[in-house]
Amino acid sequence: MEAYYRATRAEISLDALRVNLTAFRQAIPEGMLMMASVKANAYGHGAVGIAREAEAFGVDYMGVAFLDEAIQLRQAGITKPILVLGYVPPAGLAAARDYGITIALFRYDVLDAAATLPDNGKQLAVHIKIDSGMGRLGMLPGEEAQRFIERALTIKQLRVDGLFTHYSKADELDKSYTEQQYERFNGVVDYVRNHSLPISLFHAANSATGIDTPSWGHGMLRLGIGMYGLYPSAEVNQQQIKLEPVMSLKTAVAMAKTAPGNWGISYGARYVTSGSERIGTLPIGYADGFSRMLSGKAEAIVRGTRVPVLGTICMDQCMIALDPAEQDGIQVQADDEVVIMGRQGNETITADDIADKLGTINYEITCMLAARVPRVFVRNGVVQSVSNPLL
Ligand SMILES: Cc1ncc(COP(=O)(O)O)c(C=O)c1O
Repeated sequence: MEAYYRATRAEISLDALRVNLTAFRQAIPEGMLMMASVKANAYGHGAVGIAREAEAFGVDYMGVAFLDEAIQLRQAGITKPILVLGYVPPAGLAAARDYGITIALFRYDVLDAAATLPDNGKQLAVHIKIDSGMGRLGMLPGEEAQRFIERALTIKQLRVDGLFTHYSKADELDKSYTEQQYERFNGVVDYVRNHSLPISLFHAANSATGIDTPSWGHGMLRLGIGMYGLYPSAEVNQQQIKLEPVMSLKTAVAMAKTAPGNWGISYGARYVTSGSERIGTLPIGYADGFSRMLSGKAEAIVRGTRVPVLGTICMDQCMIALDPAEQDGIQVQADDEVVIMGRQGNETITADDIADKLGTINYEITCMLAARVPRVFVRNGVVQSVSNPLL
């Protein structure tokens, strides 16, 4: 059996992933740890495949959003420490402890629940979360955080390995708010150090911090979008670190035809041919994450030429104009490769190009890619593995 039968797939370049990991390692201070943020199926890239490569590269931690994502990695054989960045309810504490998964801690009821875990010789590892100005999860700096830390350290079922915070504006040019967050977090770190509390790892950096202000990251860079070769925003110093996009989204022409004039294309016939036009049908649609909101806006690359997507994007298919790619008189054939995101010849469509059309950020574009699209992991032009949950 083949690994997949439809041409639509996301190619994941393990070479690009290594380039990006190496670039960040070289850019951050000596001794600073690195976490690979592989939440949300590794930002759509395939969590297990990315985590395996990051582990082989030598990152120190994996970061995920919730416990199920962490268990998926353990079940796939990932052995590095995994930190759940989001909320883990009391019902998940025993599983986290048994799988050796570290959780973020910021609620007294969870702390109390941890204190009732039956002794099995293991401790539950936690990192306490501080809200230094993101306004999301975490204890507020000052007395609230201090009391919580002191209390957590009294519970024998817990091992408090770290303290962390998250920056909300690190990707903006003006770093004054980030500096304020850094200073608030420092206040908590100083408290821990001045009282000789047994917590050794402090971390605050996301990709933007790793690029622009690595020393504000403390002891670990939690690397997400940059690892996937995309910049967190247009305002970070893109000259500082050269990144290579890891994901390309490719498909192939399912049917190439010549439509007569005044012929409606796709649902609602929102595009109507003006004369005889060459049309290519692609086996990719909004159920794959190629949003219907891109109808009338999206482009694709075929035979090295950028062409428009015509009419409404369907659930599983969409149509492209072939005429712009046939100016030399050679027709596009069924099965010819089409790039939705990535490079073909001298043309490139980036995640940022697509994000701009949708009024969102590159993060959402790769995360949107549906589970049914196979992830094909490639090194040096050779397929290493395929992740296709359908077969
Ligand atoms: C707590 C936390 N740390 C780190 C990251 C990684 O951020 P980025 O993808 O911008 O590097 C995220 C992502 O949203 C996060 O929520």
